[in-house]
Amino acid sequence: MRNDTLIAKLNWFYSLELEQVDLYTAQSKATEDIYLSKALARIAVIEQQHVDNMAAEIKRVGGEPNILGDVIAPIVGKAFGTLTGALGPQMLLKANITLEEKAMKDYKDLLLRVGNDPRLFAVLWDNLLDEDFHTAWFANKLKELADL
Ligand SMILES: [Fe+2]
Ligand SMILES: [Fe+2]
Repeated sequence: MRNDTLIAKLNWFYSLELEQVDLYTAQSKATEDIYLSKALARIAVIEQQHVDNMAAEIKRVGGEPNILGDVIAPIVGKAFGTLTGALGPQMLLKANITLEEKAMKDYKDLLLRVGNDPRLFAVLWDNLLDEDFHTAWFANKLKELADL
């Protein structure tokens, strides 16, 4: 992969992760379910780690971290503000699962193309697995709410 293509892809992840920090933090503050609220705050901490590790990788390969602008809204088909509170917990969880699955798909796609860079390979795997854990937790919580 050309280096400028790689930097553009990493900046897409950087922007997505940054928006997820803001989104999950806002959702955490807006939700009344204490367990869901605490989990969202904790997941936002993990997403901040992804922001930081993407920024570090972008710099290491010679680029500059750049915020691309609205990344989340096109993925879930809803405005960012709508995703923070007005949705109710079940729609919120569904939207978050859509986001996490998109991130997982794109991390997997990029992983297949960076086998010659062990450091980046390791970081992408770390992030991919965290997104997988987030998806599993969101799906489990959604099922719990549906069973009530
Ligand atoms: Fe993430
Ligand atoms: Fe995540």
